[in-house]
Amino acid sequence: MALKNDLILRAARGEQVERTPVWLMRQAGRILPEYRAVRAKLSGFKELVETPELACEVTIQPVDLLGVDAAIIFSDILVVPEAMGLEYQMIKGKGPHFENTIRSEKDLSKIHVSEPLELQYVLDAIKITKKELNDRVPLIGFAGAPWTIMAYMVEGSGSKTFSEARKILYQNPKLAHQLLQMITDTTISYLKAQIEAGADMIQIFDSWAGILPYEQYQEFSARYIDQICNAISGVPKTVFAKGAYRSLGDFAQMSCNTIGLDWNMNIQDARTVVGDNRTLQGNLDPCLLYADKQTIETETKKMLAAFGGKRHIANLGHGVYPDTNPDNVKVFIETVKAYQFN
Ligand code: CP3
Repeated sequence: MALKNDLILRAARGEQVERTPVWLMRQAGRILPEYRAVRAKLSGFKELVETPELACEVTIQPVDLLGVDAAIIFSDILVVPEAMGLEYQMIKGKGPHFENTIRSEKDLSKIHVSEPLELQYVLDAIKITKKELNDRVPLIGFAGAPWTIMAYMVEGSGSKTFSEARKILYQNPKLAHQLLQMITDTTISYLKAQIEAGADMIQIFDSWAGILPYEQYQEFSARYIDQICNAISGVPKTVFAKGAYRSLGDFAQMSCNTIGLDWNMNIQDARTVVGDNRTLQGNLDPCLLYADKQTIETETKKMLAAFGGKRHIANLGHGVYPDTNPDNVKVFIETVKAYQFN
């Protein structure tokens, strides 16, 4: 059956749209009291991620409650390292923690290139969600970029600097490449399986792109993202690499449809570097949603005007912050939906 609202798919492909589509990175979970109510009944985040019916429920909440133009499957980028053999825990107030890490060649024996079967719970969640969405809006599948996943697998947790992971790029680049290739191979088959299960578009999150110098980013991140883009076809692909200003032109050479901008990136400069053959996504400052409603409306309109309605998907420049008032999120969404380009 055809999608009732396919604005975001058309915008990604550079086709005609009546208005700019809008969604928010990290819209599922984090901000809605309705999410917290579901989460509170469970043992933790992982139970939610691993129970397809519940993952489906919280995936659809922002479509019902906020009116976004796409759903993103409720999961996490860290399910990939877990499927490869490194189990993670999500610790309250602290974030992710890995008992085992990859620091040397011998640690590679702890992991394997994973088959999508090991992530069947995500694929089931996608199937159920597609059915429950009933073609109202497209469903976005996702994975972390190999560099960002490697950063967690080496570090074992979040970090301000990820210096353990960055150390390996200097001390043992061969190990880094072996690990990155294993993650890339796993990610390619995982994303293909997400598409087969029903994902209408996919996004690659390179959250820790910005901590690498440009040349290292090319060698240890961009080339693996390029491999993934080349291997995936059939649905629009988005690359969001936070802080990777100097790589925007490189992404425009890859087989992706959409390039995500963070809020520090200049919209006009990005358009000049990327050219007219790619869609841009973003890029409102997530902290703007702490402002009063009038300011949110004014700044959202300014952003829309700067993108000029040309191949744009409205979003924040990074995930919405957990303590954001959902009413302010609605102001952002409704401003985008009402905006007229003359
Ligand atoms: O976009 C969505 O809402 C879909 C679900 C989604 C989650 N994580 C759920 C989640 C997505 C797309 C992610 C991606 C993700 N996970 C990224 C890349 C995007 C980004 O923000 O840069 C990263 C780096 C992670 C790793 C991760 N997961 C961390 C560092 C944490 C702890 C802190 C935090 O961000 O909340 C998580 C936990 C997590 N992932 C939660 C949710 C809803 C909170 C868990 C809870 O409810 O206790």
